[in-house]
Order: sequence, then structure tokens, then C-alpha cells
Amino acid sequence: MGGEFPDFEAESTDGPIRFSTWQEECWCVVFAHPADFTPVCTSELGAMVRLQPALRQRNVKTLCISCDSLTLHQGWQQDIRHYSGLGSAPFPFPMIADPERKLARLLNIVDPDEVCGDLQPASLRATYIVSPQRRIRMIIMYPLAVGRSFGEVLRALDSLILCSKHRVATPENWRRGAKCFVLPPVDPVEAGKQFPSGVQRHDLPSNKPYMYTTQPPE
Ligand code: BEZ
Repeated sequence: MGGEFPDFEAESTDGPIRFSTWQEECWCVVFAHPADFTPVCTSELGAMVRLQPALRQRNVKTLCISCDSLTLHQGWQQDIRHYSGLGSAPFPFPMIADPERKLARLLNIVDPDEVCGDLQPASLRATYIVSPQRRIRMIIMYPLAVGRSFGEVLRALDSLILCSKHRVATPENWRRGAKCFVLPPVDPVEAGKQFPSGVQRHDLPSNKPYMYTTQPPE
């Protein structure tokens, strides 16, 4: 979809990171923030902290980028701990320090129309889903004023992980476990072998045989 995710090196709250080494060939979510100690960002980090059990269950790693220094990140983590209910447990994912927007520029996510408190250009609220092969499989960009829905990121991850293993696609607002579409063109006999739970054709006014559903394979 979006090509290769850059194999950058940067300082993080867990020490220096080289992306490909840190990724360990897992699916991962990389999400960028304009600034520390801001309300929307704090609410978003809190949501990502609370989402960790679901992400870990899927073997998905999380990486945060925020356009401030490591010292500010370490202080901000106390607020995020409090806001998310994490308490004194270890902070569950690294936060990259990008005070000079070097990484934001590399990713091309600097918003030309917004500046931050430090009067530098602001980063968009960019979220990347990166495959184990370090390919960008999804990008969501939100402006400063709009907090993201990380439940939607998890939903999309479930779809991407499923569709990376089987010749299927998922309908609008699909949830893990619900029926999915067999990718057209569909040969019903072959599809019946590929999807042992069976395939169902949906009759449409056009009479074109393009809509087949099946229970997602394990
Ligand atoms: C916020 O996260 O609330 C925010 C970040 C940058 C500028 C304005 C608001």
C-alpha cells in the first residue's frame, strides 16, 4: 500500500532504537503525536496503554513518536500512567523523541498549516500499521484537533492479519470472528475446498456472482 517503512534510528524512552531490530518481524502500530503534555495526545496515549492486552494477544508491537524531548516524555509518562490507570507498572511501549521533527519530516507528516507551542511545525496524528516484512499496510492521518479511534486501528489490524493469510476481504465495520468475503473472482468449487466451513453466494439484482461470504478460517 504505502511502500517500505523507513528503517530509522532514534532515541526512545527505552533507549536507542533501530526500527527493524525493534520490530522483530512482528506486525506493529506506529503512531505519531504533535506534542507532550497536551490533552488530546494524553487521551490517545491512555487509549493505547489500555489497548495493550488486545495488541499483545495478537503479537502486535506498539511504537509512539512524539515531537518533544526524552526528558519531557519521561515526565509526561507520569500523567499518562495516571490518566490510563497504568499506575506504577512498566510503561508498555517506547516513545521516540523527535524534538527537531527529523522523523516527522522523513515520514512526511509535518502539517504545513499548524505550529506547536515551541513554534515549530506540528506533526499530524499519523498512524501506521506495518507488516512483519516492514511494509506500510495502512496509514491514517488525523489533524491536531481530532483524537483518533484506536479501536478502529485494532479492527483494521484484525482485518489485515486475516487478509494476509487468506484470499479474503472484510466488509464495512467487520469485527474479528464475523463472516468475510471471498476475494473475487470466485470459483465456488475451489472456494469450497479453500474454506472448509463453506461459502455462501449472495444473490444480487445484477445476477453477477461476485459476493461470496465465508466464516474466517482459523
Ligand atoms: C492536543 O493533543 O491536545 C494538542 C496537541 C497540539 C496542539 C494542540 C492540541
